[in-house]
Amino acid sequence: MKREFSFALLGSIALIAGVGLVLRSEGKSFSFSQSPESFETLIRANFFQKFVDELPILPSMKIAPQVREITLRLQQTKVKVHRDLPEATSWGYEGLSPGPTIEVESGQALKIHWKNELPTTHILPAAIGMDMSLNEPMPDVRNVTHLHGAVVEQASMTDRLNNADGWPDAWMVPGQEQITVYPNQVSARTLLYHDHAVGTTGRNVAAGLVGLYIIHDDYERSLKLPSGPYEVTLAFQARGLKADGSLYYSDNLSQEYYGNVVAVNGKLWPFMQVEPRKYRFRMINISNARSYDIKLLDFKDEKPGPAFYQIGSDGGLLQNTAILNDPADPAAMRLKLAPAERADVIIDFSQYAGKQLVLDNTNRDGKDGELAVPQLMLFKVLPQLTKPDVSQLPTSMKAIPILNPANASIARQIDLTQVDMGNNMQMLLLNGKAWHDPITERVQLGSTEIWKLVNTTGDMHPFHIHLVQFQMLDRTPFNADQYLKTGQFVVTGASQPPDSNELGWKDVLRLEPGMMTRIIMKFDTYTGFYVFHCHILEHEDMDMMRPFEVFKSPSPSPVQH
Ligand code: C2O
Ligand code: CU
Ligand code: CU
Repeated sequence: MKREFSFALLGSIALIAGVGLVLRSEGKSFSFSQSPESFETLIRANFFQKFVDELPILPSMKIAPQVREITLRLQQTKVKVHRDLPEATSWGYEGLSPGPTIEVESGQALKIHWKNELPTTHILPAAIGMDMSLNEPMPDVRNVTHLHGAVVEQASMTDRLNNADGWPDAWMVPGQEQITVYPNQVSARTLLYHDHAVGTTGRNVAAGLVGLYIIHDDYERSLKLPSGPYEVTLAFQARGLKADGSLYYSDNLSQEYYGNVVAVNGKLWPFMQVEPRKYRFRMINISNARSYDIKLLDFKDEKPGPAFYQIGSDGGLLQNTAILNDPADPAAMRLKLAPAERADVIIDFSQYAGKQLVLDNTNRDGKDGELAVPQLMLFKVLPQLTKPDVSQLPTSMKAIPILNPANASIARQIDLTQVDMGNNMQMLLLNGKAWHDPITERVQLGSTEIWKLVNTTGDMHPFHIHLVQFQMLDRTPFNADQYLKTGQFVVTGASQPPDSNELGWKDVLRLEPGMMTRIIMKFDTYTGFYVFHCHILEHEDMDMMRPFEVFKSPSPSPVQH
């Protein structure tokens, strides 16, 4: 299973690791026109009408208390993402993309058989860079499902059948299955499941292999949040559509897959009719690379719409509700959602009866923003309620224990670097190492650690760690050029505290360019082998992914993988 770099590649990495010389790219380092997939052959946003499809409610599989075991099939399917487009071939779970939303109760363990019924040929062509580092051919179609945010035991790096956390190298092929047991011993929260197969995660997720997973508990129910038809998941999924309506993927892994359109719950520019009352939206970014900065605006006059009251994030409820997009404050922070981030948001439409509100996105992707999708969906607020709104909007929730930096046994530094390989290829590395380099991060079970995440690149990277939820400490600006040239770390400004909606348990965090971001976490659950990586999936596949091991004392012998 060991992937080896070709000579040329190995040479340049060694050089870089040895002398600390890394080329820093200024901003986006590729141009869309380099792609044979010219923009003209793609669907253009203004080709067809917006807000003609109703927002689908994602089908959910509520797991009854006595059910211990289910099967979810990875399948090839068809999706119809817009009224005026033909069906496109997609992959999904149980014929759906996004897959069915699994709903369980906290503490209800669930065994899932992930059964691979996909064909042996991928629906999307392989991208340049996907196989450059392989010394043994791997099957075109290989899959492994990871439940993102779950706390599970991953005892082995090779057991393909019992691959609970979704170890990237222990993939299965069509005809095989992967069996996982999820203990679900955590409080209420929103998770996602998605493909994680080594070197091809981005392509598999772009093909559609992603779904949601919700854990409920009594405390959350006691809050009397909007529920039933007033509790709605909004999954933002960037898709790339050609003019004939079929899917495309980046043809070079050095191009992040932004796609050219954004589906919300599987439809492009859907509309949703809402009553003038409170709703709870579980917002989740299931895109490969696209981030969103979102806010509601009046469709007619662009006046600010209702505030977002964020009550939860990746690891469940916040301690204090964070107010975003406050219409009274023109400088108010928008909700930012990087890939895999979740925001549990209450929106009160009661002052907007009869209005139309557009979900506006100011995040500009692609070179010069040519792939920007500035509008995501439309809310049509009905004139009247069907019944009084008795739901609550909490201002505070359960206290979140603060992890104390004084208790940290180690401060690990992880440098994020971009390495220019020539020919418009970049590799993205963590501490100058690629995925298959031996494990360097070994964590003692029970310990608290601070990780200093040093982003030397020109791009934001959403950083994710398996197994744990962490807390953000701060972001500190530093001189990245100087650091790359001389190794000297020079702080250039004051440390910034977390945003109000980052004051909770996180498993994905935005690492802004030129910032050193510090996080703290406690490893107090399982020993085994886990993964940390950038959640821009093309970065992950281009090796911005590393293993770590949690061990019980005494300290382990070095492990190869
Ligand atoms: Cu959501 Cu390792 O991933
Ligand atoms: Cu994960
Ligand atoms: Cu990245």
